Amino acid sequence: MLVVGGGAVAARRVRSLLAAGAAVDVVSPEVAEGFPEVPVQRRTFRDGDVDGAWLVLACSGVVDDAVAAACERSRTWCVRADDATRSPAWVPAVARADDVLVSVTAGRDPRRAVALRDAVALTLDTGGLPLRRTRPGPGSVALVGGGPGDPDLLTVRGRRLLAGADVVVRDRLAPQVPLPDGVEVIEVGKSPSGPSWSQRDIEQVLVDRAAQGRRVVRLKGGDVHVFARGIEEVAACVRAGLPVEVVPGISSALAGPTSAGIPVTARGVNQSFTVVSAHLPPGDPASTVDWDALARVGGTLVLLMAGDRLPAVCAALLAGGRDPATPVAVVSDATLPAQSTSVTTLAGAGAEVGQVRAPAVVVVGEVVGERIVPDAVGPDAVAPAAVVPDAVGPAAVAPDAGRPR
Ligand SMILES: C[S@@+](CC[C@H](N)C(=O)[O-])C[C@H]1O[C@@H](n2cnc3c(N)ncnc32)[C@H](O)[C@@H]1O
Repeated sequence: MLVVGGGAVAARRVRSLLAAGAAVDVVSPEVAEGFPEVPVQRRTFRDGDVDGAWLVLACSGVVDDAVAAACERSRTWCVRADDATRSPAWVPAVARADDVLVSVTAGRDPRRAVALRDAVALTLDTGGLPLRRTRPGPGSVALVGGGPGDPDLLTVRGRRLLAGADVVVRDRLAPQVPLPDGVEVIEVGKSPSGPSWSQRDIEQVLVDRAAQGRRVVRLKGGDVHVFARGIEEVAACVRAGLPVEVVPGISSALAGPTSAGIPVTARGVNQSFTVVSAHLPPGDPASTVDWDALARVGGTLVLLMAGDRLPAVCAALLAGGRDPATPVAVVSDATLPAQSTSVTTLAGAGAEVGQVRAPAVVVVGEVVGERIVPDAVGPDAVAPAAVVPDAVGPAAVAPDAGRPR
């Protein structure tokens, strides 16, 4: 490829050509500062320069007529940067998403093409276009953290991977997102009651489908690595020699408190938060959690999978010396239309919130006192001190304002 010119337009074109893997020569008496590192002939254009080039980009603003005429004589495609209406060829505006490339030209109006390209790129990025392959290709697995439940909290990368998926292997707490027709959806949710898939079977189905040449998305709740056995699934794919990608998601450990109006840290209140699985109760021989140490560490404790182990957990924290007046919040169905929050104290939590409605995140710490309920945020916001006393105690169990849907 030959680029004639050394200014900003030429630099931009050279960069695009290099990104596409082209070999680029430049002819220009001088080049702008920061011009890409390519061979430059520092002189004015000569007709013979176009010989042997596949494509010539005339970007000099000075000799473009001469360049176009030389190209015409030697039957070489030429793109004129100075005047699209007189250019024999055009450079399209391009949008890329993984292995898909969309080129846009728009009636010789480059700005219009760029505006359209940007809209296409955004829709591609956000999974709004049908990216599924119709011909067989290499299989792959993407572990996607789907966030806490609200489909709006799925990442852009996650959406794009779903738009190109042949198979979606879904967890029970993963967001319910619409999928294109023809996608195989495999529900592997581990429900506390009812049948569930073993971890081994989940790994096997990921490997089997990808080995058949299909693009598999493993859609998990929250983040793929927060109490989610994601690393075992990655390891299974690596062992099988399959390409595997991991996309982080918003964990319920953070989305739970935040969606209930509780900051996990607040200036002047705490400088740490600890996320703990209460899947195994204190005292269980298989538990590696040091509840005494957690009672002493202070800051905010975020408990996942507490369920009906909450009374035992509160008792362990009290036995370890945590203040009985420490506020506790239980956030159920965080970010979903049924979201609700109850607020109590460590001393009262065992009795009052003994039956935690799953799924729930439990927040223990002074930050609960900083809570501002979502519908109190805005011009009429109530000061935290006025909100907290009302929200403490059994009567505090009420649906949150949640997000407008
Ligand atoms: C097996 S763990 C998986 C956690 C997930 N990987 C994450 O990062 O959020 C499941 C626990 O996450 C919490 N959880 C998940 N989604 C939730 C939601 N929408 N509201 C409240 N808690 C949730 C509950 O404590 C539930 O028992």
